[in-house]
Amino acid sequence: MTAEQMRNKYFEFFRERGHSLIASASLLPENDPSVLFTTAGMHPLVPYLLGERHPMGKRLVNAQKCIRTDDIDDVGDASHHTYFEMLGNWSLGDYFKKESIRMSYDFLTRVLGIPADRLAVTVFEGHALIPKDTEAYDYWKDVGLRDSQIYFYGMDENWWGPAGATGPCGPDTEIFYDTGALSCNDECGPACKCGKFVEIWNNVFMQYNKLADGSYVLLDQQNVDTGMGLERIVAVLNGQASVYETDMLAPIVKKIEELTGVAYSDWVGEAGVAGSSVGNVREFRIIADHMRAAVFILGDYKKVVPSNTEQGYILRRLIRRAIRLLRQLAAGADPQSCLSAIADVVISINANVYPELLENRDFIIEQLEKECAIFLRTLERGLKEAEKVLGRLEAGGTLAGGEVFRLFDTFGFPPELTEELAAEKGAAADIEGFKQHLAQHQEKSRSGARGMFKGGLADHSDQTARLHTATHLLNGALRTVLGDGVMQRGSNINAERLRFDFSFDRKMTAEEIEAVNKIVNRAIADSIDVVCEEMPVDAAAASGAVGVFESRYGEIVKVYTMGEYSKEICGGPHVANTGELVSFTIQKEESSSAGVRRIKATVGAQ
Ligand code: ALA
Repeated sequence: MTAEQMRNKYFEFFRERGHSLIASASLLPENDPSVLFTTAGMHPLVPYLLGERHPMGKRLVNAQKCIRTDDIDDVGDASHHTYFEMLGNWSLGDYFKKESIRMSYDFLTRVLGIPADRLAVTVFEGHALIPKDTEAYDYWKDVGLRDSQIYFYGMDENWWGPAGATGPCGPDTEIFYDTGALSCNDECGPACKCGKFVEIWNNVFMQYNKLADGSYVLLDQQNVDTGMGLERIVAVLNGQASVYETDMLAPIVKKIEELTGVAYSDWVGEAGVAGSSVGNVREFRIIADHMRAAVFILGDYKKVVPSNTEQGYILRRLIRRAIRLLRQLAAGADPQSCLSAIADVVISINANVYPELLENRDFIIEQLEKECAIFLRTLERGLKEAEKVLGRLEAGGTLAGGEVFRLFDTFGFPPELTEELAAEKGAAADIEGFKQHLAQHQEKSRSGARGMFKGGLADHSDQTARLHTATHLLNGALRTVLGDGVMQRGSNINAERLRFDFSFDRKMTAEEIEAVNKIVNRAIADSIDVVCEEMPVDAAAASGAVGVFESRYGEIVKVYTMGEYSKEICGGPHVANTGELVSFTIQKEESSSAGVRRIKATVGAQ
């Protein structure tokens, strides 16, 4: 089974059951200060899960590009990724548990042909304030599962969401594939990590909204949000031991073999047990995973570039780690041309589904090569630094773990290389000490990443809607003052301000800033009704609406119009009338990255 066949089967099954196919949203979330990347198919759908009307109806299906950075340090085993594709189907206040369970069961057993006795499911056992999910249990029994296939777990295993600190969430039922391996002990079940059970699908019954004070309130509508990792299900169906053997990743691994002249030990049988990290399995997997993620981030229409902050920093880490491991596998390989060759494979595997990769190919290659050149220079400086600190060592001495870590952290210097250089001088390097420093650092960056998620999804409060409407007026005014070449590159809203990134290649003059301020304030003073219309994406484009044309041909989108000031494709929500913004003030205009400017602005208190 190929990934494409799997996607198509999934789409066809749910379309036959009344679901509209929607496009994958961008990997870079809009208007959301709390997350760096889109982490699940539900993420771009939060407003609709909370009650906003979706223009494509109440039943949706798609495949969504996702990045999860939490597990970046665990990539290399058989199951952790940064980038992956999530198949999902949604009910926005339409069907609920019964139909969802029935559809999932039918898809797995009838369409994919998985024998029913190979399935195991988990169900929410309840919690002080939220009852045990006996309904889900009953429906699994109705479709024919035996009691021995149904497991109950608590909040840790069977509750999903919110994606941030607040937002839609609920009990879930997770579906596992039982590999048939022997139970590792009496307690072994789907929550066990021994490998007997592989999670393939998660059906979340989103009927709660978690509020900032930590309480759960019932939503007006009962939603279903499901997610199935595409790579994982394909591997399971093909009987492949890891996702790196599927057609989404194997060609990348093969390309790395070709470029480095090194054989991937999983294929030549050195690795032994599936999922082990023997031989070079880990290095190959990390390079393949990180390069795929980097190509997808660079290929997104928002044009993020490597930097030291936010998404740009994750991108930088992914690329640099791939370079380091490439050099480790094959010191003689030219990293720059390796990166480009690997990127081309990633693009060719995915371009039929994600044409933006092909459209942005030159940009992707250019950025990879640029980052590679910067990194190689840093490495060279590191070499000098290493020689300096090693020069201070006595023969027979040991370079402290802290120093080994500093070379690694500041100059991207692999500890093995430091060890080798030390050995040349008859000295040693404290690799154990290095590992301790690394572990401390990882703990810090993990809690940093968690902090990022703590803020919660943009709360869709009135203030968010007011700032969101202001970004539309700002976008329109910038195009009036600076020309139609101005394109939105990103938007981020928190309780205090909006932040808007747009393509423009020089600093704005004070007069231009003033002119933009004036136009937006005039639009506010004019108290214009914000009009929302639904139309096919091609009609929206023809009507002159600006916005992100990531939607599929024929997909229905919402177009928000504010008089002559703004016409944009957007999911909402917005205020009803521009007068609700009271006033608008640009606080700052600055550079964001090459060719991209950033404006921070506020609206008046109500
Ligand atoms: N949103 C759910 C998940 O990511 C389906 O598992």
